[in-house]
Amino acid sequence: SQSEPLKVMISGAPASGKGTQCEMIVQKFGLVHISTGDLLRAEVSAGTEIGNKAKEYMNAGQLVPDEIVTAMVTARLSQKDAKEKGWLLDGYPRSFAQAESLEKLKIRPDVYITLDVPDEILIDRCVGRRLDPVTRQIYHIKNFPPETEEIKARLVTRPDDTEEKVKSRLQIYKQNAEAILSTYSNILKKVDGNRAKEVVFEEINSSLSQVKNEKVNAT
Ligand code: AP5
Repeated sequence: SQSEPLKVMISGAPASGKGTQCEMIVQKFGLVHISTGDLLRAEVSAGTEIGNKAKEYMNAGQLVPDEIVTAMVTARLSQKDAKEKGWLLDGYPRSFAQAESLEKLKIRPDVYITLDVPDEILIDRCVGRRLDPVTRQIYHIKNFPPETEEIKARLVTRPDDTEEKVKSRLQIYKQNAEAILSTYSNILKKVDGNRAKEVVFEEINSSLSQVKNEKVNAT
């Protein structure tokens, strides 16, 4: 029987491990990963109109205005691949207004995952994060160092990953988190993100497998 594809939202403070977990979720479940941070960074590096508008907010560690991000996300969600394979929305909604926008369009996930990690660990994770511009792999100078000298030489640091900007991103996250949670309280899956990434994934994996089974049995 053909069941509706899985729809997942993942949230958590900056550097709580959303991107890292999404890499593993995509490999296992084949969902279309829609990261608003990645989409915005791609617009910035391509120098598009959206990118030029978004850049100053992102570099300052502030939220990009809702209308820019919402238009971008709803356009991406309506594409064929997301409808057929299911989606994994990462970094959206990030405000109550954004959650309301999706509710109005009747776009709801099957499960809303939050990754919980203590503040002092988040700062260390951000400051040590490095990205591979070629493979898009996420590294950390201590936790996940690059495999080769060649990769090490090309790694880049995000402009918003300084201690000061991480603190401002964290504060904005905390201001919004509760209001967004209220929209998804009945499908909430809280996960302790302060463990080895494989252990965190195991818990997410079993939760998503269960939701998937329930969807199959419902058809
Ligand atoms: P975005 O890119 O979404 O940034 P973020 O939410 O701050 O999240 P991060 O990408 O920093 O962290 P992550 O949770 O993915 O962690 P990661 O896996 O990399 O957004 C950036 C900006 O874009 C925003 O500030 C805003 O300006 C704008 N924006 C985006 N969405 C928006 C929206 N909806 N509305 C308005 N503006 C928006 O891991 C972090 C580090 O920790 C890595 O080095 C990793 O290797 C390491 N690590 C991961 N897991 C573990 C583990 N289990 N143990 C040890 N280390 C680990």
